[in-house]
Amino acid sequence: MGLCSATITYMSIISNCTESAIRDAGASLISGNLVTFPTETVYGLGADAANKDAVLRIYEVKGRPVDHPLIVHISSIEHLDKWARDIPEYAIKLARSFWPGPMTLILPRTKLAKDFITAGQDNVGMRVPSHTVALALLKEFESQGGLGVAAPSANRFGKVSPTTAQAVSDELSNYLTSADLILDGGPCAVGVESTIIDCTQSLPVIIRPGEVSTQMIEELLLIKLPIFDTQSNQIKAPGLLTSHYSPNAKVFLTGTPAPGDGLIAPSHIPTPKGVFRLAAPKNNIEYAQSLYNALRLADTKGLQNIFVIPPVAEGIGIAINDRLTKASAESVI
Ligand code: TXA
Ligand code: MG
Repeated sequence: MGLCSATITYMSIISNCTESAIRDAGASLISGNLVTFPTETVYGLGADAANKDAVLRIYEVKGRPVDHPLIVHISSIEHLDKWARDIPEYAIKLARSFWPGPMTLILPRTKLAKDFITAGQDNVGMRVPSHTVALALLKEFESQGGLGVAAPSANRFGKVSPTTAQAVSDELSNYLTSADLILDGGPCAVGVESTIIDCTQSLPVIIRPGEVSTQMIEELLLIKLPIFDTQSNQIKAPGLLTSHYSPNAKVFLTGTPAPGDGLIAPSHIPTPKGVFRLAAPKNNIEYAQSLYNALRLADTKGLQNIFVIPPVAEGIGIAINDRLTKASAESVI
């Protein structure tokens, strides 16, 4: 996806892609405004990570409790030691192999990573995204003196992450001001959030599955990854609340849809009569790309129930199943 597919909107989506648009967006971040931008995973709601007032606006716009830390986005591994210290050798290897890309590393923080970023924890989440528009924005922001961009997914707290600029606008336009921006870089190629890896212990631990899989990490580091244990690990797992990744409609992972219900299922599964087919992905990659839009579509159509036939649990299927389990948590009887 090239820079030319980027457009900038002031509360609405305008098709106008230029490098000067990215320059303006960088300047807007420096001035303390919010800039929503595409990444390869989902859209992020960005603010200058060193500007307390700007970061607090992220929490306000998302309606997110302040005890949830934010990921800091940088344009390159070269900037990592501004934010993180005591970086283990395995974390450097992960960063060199999978950045830019859909992976976040949790590392011990430096003084630059203030409590308003880390929610008072002694560690900070760091990511170098690979989307062309995200990288251009980060480079521009850094060239204007910025050090990092804090960005959670650009949805209201507990809701579905946006994978298009239109979805961002639907979610947040009531909460953004005319000084904030939405950058449109097209639909996100991955479609589910980054793999988050706790790198504060002797071995890495995946605390949120994503496209960078256990197998990829084990093959790179030639180790067996420990399983994340929510009881003994000091770091809280992301999205543990029951309402996470939830549309308004109820999500069911078992049972049969009735006429008027929605269905998300692999393409070989036929659609029963009267059921609204929300997505029919041909493989796990398409499943991840289409999942969040399918959940949103159900709400746009005013459906009450969504029945889901989960993907095969391999590769990104593991991340999809993680989000589906959380999205369905309130519907489990
Ligand atoms: O793909 C992604 O990671 C997207 C794009 C925009 O980069 N971002 C994203 O951010 O998903 P967010 O805030 O929606 O989800 C990150 C999760 C949150 O549950 C947060 O509490 C957790 O990761 N998190 C962030 N920093 C952390 C830290 N230092 N320790 C433990 N959990 C952390
Ligand atoms: Mg999120």
